[in-house]
Amino acid sequence: MTTPKKLYIKTYGCQMNVYDSERMAEAMGGAGYVETDTPDDADMILLNTCHIREKAAEKVYSELGRYKHLKTEKPDLKIGVAGCVAQAEGDEIMRRQPLVDLVVGPQSYHRLPELEAKAGQGAKAIDTDFPTEDKFEHLKSRPKAKRAPAAFLTVQEGCDKFCAFCVVPYTRGAEVSRPASRILDEARELVDRGVREITLLGQNVNAYHGAGPDGGDWSLAKLIWELDRVDGLERIRFTTSHPNDMSDDLIEAHGTCSKLMPYLHLPVQSGSDRILKRMNRSHDAASYLALIDRIRAARPDILISGDFIVGFPEETDQDFQDTMDLIRAVNYGQAFSFKYSTRPGTPAAERDQVAEDVKTDRLAQLQSLIADQQKSIQDSMVAKTVSVLFERAGRFDNQMVGKSEYLHAVHVSDTDAKVGDIRRVRITQSNRNSLNGELAD
Ligand code: 5AD
Ligand code: SF4
Repeated sequence: MTTPKKLYIKTYGCQMNVYDSERMAEAMGGAGYVETDTPDDADMILLNTCHIREKAAEKVYSELGRYKHLKTEKPDLKIGVAGCVAQAEGDEIMRRQPLVDLVVGPQSYHRLPELEAKAGQGAKAIDTDFPTEDKFEHLKSRPKAKRAPAAFLTVQEGCDKFCAFCVVPYTRGAEVSRPASRILDEARELVDRGVREITLLGQNVNAYHGAGPDGGDWSLAKLIWELDRVDGLERIRFTTSHPNDMSDDLIEAHGTCSKLMPYLHLPVQSGSDRILKRMNRSHDAASYLALIDRIRAARPDILISGDFIVGFPEETDQDFQDTMDLIRAVNYGQAFSFKYSTRPGTPAAERDQVAEDVKTDRLAQLQSLIADQQKSIQDSMVAKTVSVLFERAGRFDNQMVGKSEYLHAVHVSDTDAKVGDIRRVRITQSNRNSLNGELAD
């Protein structure tokens, strides 16, 4: 028997990249590779990159530079760049960093084994096309190894919204929804492998409109209701949603589908109507707040999370105060916030920029407000009983870590709690970023 070759994948960015990395590992499994968690003994290194943050490409180059000695020691080592930076600057990467053997965009992972073979013959291999064929079809997972209890499942990819700050429509391409039957098959397979919670992924997941087995277009809500019928699947989540695609059936499902968890990531980006317009968001602050009211009417205890950008071009103090007011009105359980940074090729990159120190100050104010809201919602969980899916052992003896239905990390010290169990837990303490509790069933 030949010893398997080793593949090291470093994943940056969003949950979809985590999902994509798993699929790449499976594709390379078919080409005789097993995963390793260190680059030092790898025969192939893949960086699965993200382009959404500032200086993404620079970080990739500096990471690649760190592998130079490995390639010197082991000339057969193959180094590849995947993901959104690969998509955005594939040719440039090949030119600038001779260590790189292959570049593969997010739509071409199924071609990885081919690209690897080509790279093995000393050629440079690049594929950043947006092919129409379904890459997922080529990525039927091979080894049916047991999985952790919570998994991601990509249902939709790409975005047609073209927010003025964002590269996603350029790197991930136009919106494409996977056929519902493929998603249902994949979900059943995940459940067979031990998964009890699935997070449906898409850059614009609630715009999902995949072909249903009945010939019609299925909405995300329809897909969720079908998943609800999958025995053994206990929890369903989805991310990331756009306010404009929060349809009535999806809002209603939050109130009526017991497997759909009471957590919703619904980025608003800004609370200023003027800035929202300049961002090309096509919703305003009032319509977002009205939407939150409708969602909370359907599911009063739902935890709302969001994304914010401060210092978008032309943002005034008043615009920023409007954002702070919106945050106060919503009361977020969690949020991700960023200073605006330019992405070449996007419309906002050409506009008047806000000074860096102003951005820094606004970000600190916003994060402090969010931290207060997050903490007080967490504190309000104390003495309540929640349901927890245990995902892994904690750092201390007999400690288990899991997630509540509200996506709070919950720590329980009890030998009775096992990975994969869903148990009732009474919350006893609220920490900075987690809760402690004890089994209550
Ligand atoms: N600058 C700052 N933040 C950005 N995001 C996307 N593009 C930019 C940018 N150019 C943020 C948005 C988005 C999240 C994933 O990243 O808030 O929702
Ligand atoms: Fe980017 Fe999201 Fe806007 Fe699409 S909706 S352009 S992914 S920020």
